[in-house]
Amino acid sequence: MSNKAYLGIFGPGPNSSAAICSENEIIAWAEEERFNRIKTAPNSYPSQAIAYCLEEARKNNLEVVAVGYGWNCETYAELATKNLNETIEKFPSESDHISLKVQQSLNSLYDPEMIKNDLALILRKNGVELSEMEFNFYSHHLCHAATAHYCSGYKDSVVIINDGVGEVASSTLYYADESGDFEELATVELPNTLGGLYASVTEFLGFRAYMDEGKTMGLAAYGKPNAEIEEIFEDIARDIENEFGYIVNPRYRYSGKRTFGKKFTDKLVERLGPPRKRENSAMEAPYPDIAYTAQKQLERLLMSQLEYAAGLNLSKNATFAGGVHMNCKANGVLGESDLFDNYFFQPAASDNGAPLGAAMLACKDETGSKPAIPPLNHLYYGPSFSEEQIESVLKKCKLDYKKSENIASEVAQLIADNAIVGWFQGRMEIGARALGGRSILANPLNPDARDHVNKHVKNREAWRPFCPSLQSEFFKDYFDTELDSSRYMITACSIKKEYLDVLPSCIHIDGTVRPQTVEKGANPLYWEMLNEFEKITGHPIVVNTSFNVQGEPIVMRPEEAIRCFYGSGMDVLAIGPFLVKKT
Ligand SMILES: [Fe+2]
Repeated sequence: MSNKAYLGIFGPGPNSSAAICSENEIIAWAEEERFNRIKTAPNSYPSQAIAYCLEEARKNNLEVVAVGYGWNCETYAELATKNLNETIEKFPSESDHISLKVQQSLNSLYDPEMIKNDLALILRKNGVELSEMEFNFYSHHLCHAATAHYCSGYKDSVVIINDGVGEVASSTLYYADESGDFEELATVELPNTLGGLYASVTEFLGFRAYMDEGKTMGLAAYGKPNAEIEEIFEDIARDIENEFGYIVNPRYRYSGKRTFGKKFTDKLVERLGPPRKRENSAMEAPYPDIAYTAQKQLERLLMSQLEYAAGLNLSKNATFAGGVHMNCKANGVLGESDLFDNYFFQPAASDNGAPLGAAMLACKDETGSKPAIPPLNHLYYGPSFSEEQIESVLKKCKLDYKKSENIASEVAQLIADNAIVGWFQGRMEIGARALGGRSILANPLNPDARDHVNKHVKNREAWRPFCPSLQSEFFKDYFDTELDSSRYMITACSIKKEYLDVLPSCIHIDGTVRPQTVEKGANPLYWEMLNEFEKITGHPIVVNTSFNVQGEPIVMRPEEAIRCFYGSGMDVLAIGPFLVKKT
């Protein structure tokens, strides 16, 4: 077997991250924010994530032979400037074009020589000489597409990518064949962008663009159809009949005066009224109805793309990636459709997926064939800590702790007794969702659990829902869904009516849930804990939210877990085989 490894890099930029794979395995994959503790690490190279990936490669006796970068810096400046100038010519504005200033700074940020030189320095510090290996800039959407198709396990697939923008493309449709080659079938360019539009609405609603889109999605469930707002949104964006593309009116978010926000113009305020001020509740009218309308519009436009893709009759399989596909509500709508037989939503769909795609493409270019990666069945590709390492931190912090003989059954009993448990076990997950590596767990049967965790642990809005983890064997018992599994909390589905009152703390106001189905082979300890919980309560299901407080990245090291545990209202910390309880 070959000992070659392929490194993928994305950053600086939100979701700065790195990944490394061999010809037949993902070795390591992590976001820089977990290392430098700055949410999304927007202005950093993924230098610590790169160091971690290279260390994991060494442990596996692999040597890096090629490096891929998840953005095509070589064509970017020219294409993006041309695209922007054309838009400005078409939609002139009397006011300053903030977009132009942003574009100028991005052009310099993504200068190919500068990126290459900076990466060479970072790699040299880790004993790797970039000049001695193949290095390529890859198209951003092609990187997303590589993760979607290669991780799906499908022989071929229609690949749909939607994000804010990759170079100048915001949506791309590919056909990926059995040999792993991608044919670009259609593309949508700025100023039309579904991710950008949803980000504009997110900012209008008083949340952070390109960070809090999940809040807009959550708020949408509290809204209702509103004819007046629908009419405005029809003017903002619409599909194009018999095409993959769509139109987003640039006057609302791209071209024009901006008194209230960076991502939307005054024209949007003229039509929708004042944007929400942070001190006002998002639940005040008309904000829930605006979120509802934006969400429905997104789902409609994505379904229109899917119908176009299905009409090409190229494959029975559809795969998806790009930040828009972090919207589990929209994914649920797509995944329940009978237009395709099989659906795969790559769970690290944001730009944290780009480095894995770049690594896989580098592998394909070097070997001449697609990487033989098995279908993705977990996301535990981050650092782990040994029992000795964890115990030494507990001792250093002078904590009272005990070693459990059976951490799974003890934690199950504690959760059943309504304790809120910090669960720090094994390798950290890549991606925004905690999946039983770095999680906070609570009792879903307790009607107060959601409010308690929201108020005392996460410090977030009371209306935001939590998600459950359940043993995969029981998925169809609890949910009305066409989906076979939901491993990554990336698709929403409806819970059966008989459980609406049984599991109040993990069901959203509209009756949907964003579950994680846990397979024994993917996470045996977590599965075992759910098994023990079922023995006590009759339900193999717990509330699972990410191990962090609002505004901070998910914890990675034991020190951060301890800090978060004592800085919040958690009752118990289950860290490796050790239990720490507050007295
Ligand atoms: Fe992207």
